[in-house]
Amino acid sequence: MTWWRDGVIYQIYPRSFRDANGDGVGDLSGITERLDHLAWLGVDAIWITPITVSPDTDWGYDVADYTAVQPVLGDLADFDRLVAEAEHRGIRVVLDLVPNHSSDQHAWFQEAKAAKDSPRREYYVWADPKPDGSPPNNWRSSFGGAAWTKDDASGQYYLHNFLPTQPDLNWWSEAVRDEFDRILRFWFDRGAAGFRIDVCHAIVKDKELRDNPPAEPGDHPYVFRFGQRKVYNAERPEAHDVLRRWRTIAEEYDPPRLLLGETYVLDVARLRHFYGDGDELQLAFNFVFLHSPFTAEGLRTIVDAAEEALPEPAWPVWAISTHDLPRVADRWCEGSVERARAAVLMLLTLRGTPVLYYGDELGMADVPVPPEQRRDPVGTGSYDAGPGRDPCRTPMPWAPGPGGGFTTGNAEPWLPLSMQPGVTVEEQRADPQSMLRLTRDVIALRRAEPDLTKGDYASLPAPEGVWAYRRGERFTVVLNLSDGPAEFDCGSGPVRIRLGTNRRRDGEDVGGAVSLRAWEGVVLERT
Ligand code: NOJ
Repeated sequence: MTWWRDGVIYQIYPRSFRDANGDGVGDLSGITERLDHLAWLGVDAIWITPITVSPDTDWGYDVADYTAVQPVLGDLADFDRLVAEAEHRGIRVVLDLVPNHSSDQHAWFQEAKAAKDSPRREYYVWADPKPDGSPPNNWRSSFGGAAWTKDDASGQYYLHNFLPTQPDLNWWSEAVRDEFDRILRFWFDRGAAGFRIDVCHAIVKDKELRDNPPAEPGDHPYVFRFGQRKVYNAERPEAHDVLRRWRTIAEEYDPPRLLLGETYVLDVARLRHFYGDGDELQLAFNFVFLHSPFTAEGLRTIVDAAEEALPEPAWPVWAISTHDLPRVADRWCEGSVERARAAVLMLLTLRGTPVLYYGDELGMADVPVPPEQRRDPVGTGSYDAGPGRDPCRTPMPWAPGPGGGFTTGNAEPWLPLSMQPGVTVEEQRADPQSMLRLTRDVIALRRAEPDLTKGDYASLPAPEGVWAYRRGERFTVVLNLSDGPAEFDCGSGPVRIRLGTNRRRDGEDVGGAVSLRAWEGVVLERT
């Protein structure tokens, strides 16, 4: 078994998982405290969003020191303890690597900015203004506005594809490449099982800094809304040299370390490039899937396309929520528990590695965050684009009552606690019908039945609104993603519901057809 192919990865937003020291912010020791729960749930690895030193203008994605722990989260000793305790329970720890940009507070940038002839200058992307003083090209920041900020001291602009406090690193620089080799090894040596790589698709920029072309009406809606195609500041061919270099380092370790890319490419066919010839990423996130509507037709089309586009040894990876989007309970499920149950059943039965976002196993919804309590730069100040990403980053609801089992009763949690009735770990662990128990049971079923991990995938003919797919020899998953009842023809031979979103049907023998209520999903087994 290769753990990252057969296993389930669980994403943790560390400030919001569990606060061990009562300051209202989650921390590494808090994660360690909850490892027994994660082992009970059955996950194989946790991916923790950045834990390194950061001024937190983008909550850890602006790194000021790549090899030290952000003090509010703990220290290196806490990290070592987390890795050791996790290993003891068969859980790997995957970290987040942020190579596209550092913080403007990083010593590299401070030195680069201080003197044009500093050896650090080349670590970042600097360019002269156009003759009229405007930015060197038309690139837009992913967070809005120009991707360039003028440094008055030198008269040059520096590039930032996100906030001005996140200057882009220059991946044409050999010195930058060497720095990151060291960073990878630092964490791999300490026992990190791999990295999720931030902005993995866009680290290398066009050397000539050419203008991006405008978006066209036929482009993916996200691209169209952004207004330009990121032809010259993303998906550059030279990025693959870097990925190969990192894969070589990852393979020096036993077991090889995992490279899981944030490959924000809105075309499934282009995803395959990131796997190289089995010598780049082992896993590349599929954002087309994340942005799909929650419909049988929409999802089937994307998953079938991914199956086609990613032949072995490439291996798909699936997520239904992240720390950057509204939670699946809202985005896809409009608050319906039945839909959320179907979504989790789907996530855990597709061919590929599922990445479960903390709280989704409870059916946790976004938590409204009043404007005065907003923390995310995308929801505040000049980037005020609505509620931002805070609502999907709120503390894990462990138990009812003050502090929610996340922090102590008298501490102020850094973001508001969820008040959703019945959505706590404590309540759901005790309820055999709960979403948490459903999630745990599907994970256990995956482990017990290799067809659900290694078995091939084939989508099957199904009525409108129903998505059915075969997994391996014996299993068929049928999801009724519609508001009305549906019937699926199971063909001949005895079939039983091995597990369903309606747990009362587990073990039910079905004849030639299975009837499903709206938003009901089942795993059928040929007996
Ligand atoms: C993607 C991360 O997931 C997001 O949270 C962050 O703001 C940007 N990259 C910039 O690092």
